[in-house]
Amino acid sequence: MLFSKEFDGKVALVTGGSSGIGKAAALAFAQAGAKVVIASRGVEEGEQAVHEICARGSDAIFVKTDVSQAREVEALVNKTVDIYGRLDCAFNNAGISQIHPITDSSEEDWDCIININLKGTWLSMKYEIAQMLKQGSGAIVNNSSIAGVIGIPNLSIYSASKGGVIAMARAAAIEYAKSGIRINVVNPSFIRTPILNKFPTKQLNKFLEEHPHPIGRIGTPEEVGETAVWLCSDRASFITGENLIIDGGYTAQ
Ligand SMILES: NC(=O)c1ccc[n+]([C@@H]2O[C@H](COP(=O)([O-])OP(=O)(O)OC[C@H]3O[C@@H](n4cnc5c(N)ncnc54)[C@H](O)[C@@H]3O)[C@@H](O)[C@H]2O)c1
Repeated sequence: MLFSKEFDGKVALVTGGSSGIGKAAALAFAQAGAKVVIASRGVEEGEQAVHEICARGSDAIFVKTDVSQAREVEALVNKTVDIYGRLDCAFNNAGISQIHPITDSSEEDWDCIININLKGTWLSMKYEIAQMLKQGSGAIVNNSSIAGVIGIPNLSIYSASKGGVIAMARAAAIEYAKSGIRINVVNPSFIRTPILNKFPTKQLNKFLEEHPHPIGRIGTPEEVGETAVWLCSDRASFITGENLIIDGGYTAQ
């Protein structure tokens, strides 16, 4: 449950905010009063998300960004500050997945997934933290996955990228704890978003039947997005370096 004016006067950046979990978080930030910057590669989807937020009476902009490119991420943070004057919260959520056994995966697969999921998160933190240090405060949440915590077959590169996000965020949380910047991670299990289209439907259904979620269903984008927003809120003011699993009990089995 988010409070309607909780983020009044605050500015929130969501990478991958045009779709799925990121879009749910962007809508939740806006509903709670934040001005929202949506960054992603897909222009049409990004502008649609902004349109939805503005139609509800909130303020948002879209900035086309490839998070694996340093110059584009630096420009994203600069544009955020140029337009809204500050950066209070960031949900580093942009990511891709690929389902292949190791032996069928290529060096290009490795470079592409690691560059977006791991390097992209690092670049996002690098430029966001630089701005937050000037302000003396900030809250960052990075989106990892239960694949960064437990073994899931055919996800070796994705798992490496997500495990890296967890380790990196922990180090960063300690590094900036005294600077007023909190850094946390969310680890969703299977959430119904377009990223699951990468899984052949039959293979996914079979896998989920064999490895059911104790809660009896997979999760929704809102269940993750709203948790990320809550972690950015002042109600989570004593939480940093945390690796929060959002999985309906999946990894507790
Ligand atoms: N859906 C799941 O089951 C699940 C589970 C665990 C973790 N996650 C993670 O959640 C995050 C969001 O995924 P989703 O499920 O909402 O999928 P999605 O495909 O709906 O959203 C992915 C978003 O990332 C953006 N994106 C991809 N590459 C980008 C790049 N190079 N630069 C900028 N933006 C880029 C896309 O444009 C899109 O907005 C990902 O990091 C994913 O790994 C998803």
